[in-house]
Amino acid sequence: MSAPPLLVTCGLPYTNGPCHLGHLRTYVPADAYVRYMRRTGEEVVFVCGSDNHGTPIVVSAEAAGVTPRQMSEKYHEHFDRTFRRMGVVFDHFGMTDNPANHARTTAIVKQLIARGHIYSQVVHQAYCTKCRRFLPDRYVEGICPHCGASARGDECDQGCGKHLEPGEIKEPVCKVCGTKAEFRDQEHFFFRLSAFKTYLLPFLESVRGTANAKNYAIGWIKEELHDWCITRTLDWGVKFPGRDDLVVYVWVDAPIGYIAFTEEWAEKAGRDWKRYWCGDNRVTHFIGGDIIYHHCIFWPALLHGAGYGVPHAIVASGMLKVDDHKFSKSRGYVVWTNEDYLDRGLPADYLRYYLLAYTSHTKELNFSWKLFAERINNEVVNIFGNFVNRTLQFGQREFNGIPEGGADPAIMAEIDKTCAVVDGFMRDYEFKSAVDAILALAAYGNTYIQGNAPWKLVKTDRAAAAQVIRNAAQLAHALALLIEPVMPEKAQECWTMLGYSDRIADHRISDAKKPSRTGAIPPPRPLFARMEEEKVIELDELLHKRVRDADRKSEKIPVVSLEEFQKLDIRAGRVLSCEPVNKSNKLLKLVVDIGTEKRQIVAGMQQFYKPEEMIGKDVVVVTNLAPAKIFGVESNGMILAAGDAASLLVPLRPVEPGSKIR
Ligand code: MF3
Ligand code: ZN
Repeated sequence: MSAPPLLVTCGLPYTNGPCHLGHLRTYVPADAYVRYMRRTGEEVVFVCGSDNHGTPIVVSAEAAGVTPRQMSEKYHEHFDRTFRRMGVVFDHFGMTDNPANHARTTAIVKQLIARGHIYSQVVHQAYCTKCRRFLPDRYVEGICPHCGASARGDECDQGCGKHLEPGEIKEPVCKVCGTKAEFRDQEHFFFRLSAFKTYLLPFLESVRGTANAKNYAIGWIKEELHDWCITRTLDWGVKFPGRDDLVVYVWVDAPIGYIAFTEEWAEKAGRDWKRYWCGDNRVTHFIGGDIIYHHCIFWPALLHGAGYGVPHAIVASGMLKVDDHKFSKSRGYVVWTNEDYLDRGLPADYLRYYLLAYTSHTKELNFSWKLFAERINNEVVNIFGNFVNRTLQFGQREFNGIPEGGADPAIMAEIDKTCAVVDGFMRDYEFKSAVDAILALAAYGNTYIQGNAPWKLVKTDRAAAAQVIRNAAQLAHALALLIEPVMPEKAQECWTMLGYSDRIADHRISDAKKPSRTGAIPPPRPLFARMEEEKVIELDELLHKRVRDADRKSEKIPVVSLEEFQKLDIRAGRVLSCEPVNKSNKLLKLVVDIGTEKRQIVAGMQQFYKPEEMIGKDVVVVTNLAPAKIFGVESNGMILAAGDAASLLVPLRPVEPGSKIR
């Protein structure tokens, strides 16, 4: 019996914001894996789609003044287009709000009910009396019952990271209007996840994929499994069967989307979706490291409970950092796929290379423009590109292309070895190691050319020099075929430069081991361009500016009461004298008449005002600031100024020194 066909999926992006590097860290490796496996001759189906339901999308849509469906369609298009631009090509990219998924979700929920895996229970749920509605998930904010940090309704996002069930959050506040929420009773439906413990343990022992997914999940299961409330009081979503006022929790219908999208694809392609989802299968989920629980515990239990086949492999990517800071959209540590990268004319393949080659798939990946440029220049350009260029250029100049004949056995052996190593790594989801092995073959090629110096050899032994180039061309041919899953566009260019007129993606990886083509080639030109220093500085500056802007925005400004404010004594003053403070190029020492007395004040304004221009000026002074010694000079108050250039605040109409500012 032949192995079941391979179905690969990627975690579905929510449709309330654009594509960023965090998405790509999962999608690019998944795409590379699919391309590779296909080119070993496997039948592979690659499906994905957008995740349209859930409260964050409703909240964003409300804020934007559009319907959740409109918002979803907009971002659906966006992701579809962006993934293609990145060379991530799905056989089908669906929407969880489309009819196929509504139907499949309803069917599965009914199956779960029929099999006794769902029960109802009354829960206290946060309710806003002003908005007159229940506050599911992100509609409510409050305090985490586990760690005391501020939390969202469904997740302690600032503290311990635990998932929160409806009714668990403390001190709930309505996110829409800020009103203190109250708890009200409401009937909800629960999935009996706790009953799946004995099923899940052996499942996880045998599931394939990356160790992080499996090990985290096993750890969690050994602790305790809680039943999940799978209904929400919301209009947007898939209705819970028989209940018009409830929809299913987004984490129910989202993964079911994987099945629905397979159905939609099968319909188009004239295939049977059941081959992929019922019984023995090879469903492989690529996901972000933050949704392991959902895919390793909740999802297999749901599938098993409803009588479907369970995933074959779960591949979870590691953490992402930007400039050594935890990836964060709100704090500005983010790289937007279009705005920051593709729209600036940078090649998709460079980013694909970086994401695959930086580190192992499950480890922490740090992105910085400097590191990015280094890796591209040192590895892609200097090793891979350089090897291909010198081979083709020398071949063209001396032999009008690639000399006839076969490659030497030693060269073929090196290619064989690399293919075997790459194959092992790809199947183990060790993408970095696979890329390293390919680059090592390019480095071998460079050493080979350098050692044989065909530019010298050609003067004494033309046939031997021709053989060197013939061998190098075989290596370049193998390199193009091997690098295609990583850099599909560049691989095609390389392929064309080698004189092929067909599509490289239609070739098996094993063609690397077949004799490569000889004869005329198109005029060679450099395969890769370097990342230029000025460009890198510009991109880096953009990132830093975004971080600075985010900092400014998030600055927490404490609220003061009128009482507290009135403790400040702020008065109009007139400058009587002014001179620079000794040895300081920033400070001025002023004597200011504040009506009742004369005050000595030190102020950091030397760059902006000449001492003589200050004399006679009306200023605004905080008079009851605790005295301080600055550069050894006593200062008794503060002169108010605005902005980085210390623009002085002055009374608009003349007032007597000492007039109180209110
Ligand atoms: N939209 C979810 C997220 O971004 C992922 C959903 S994956 C699926 O975290 F399994 F639910 F489909
Ligand atoms: Zn409210």
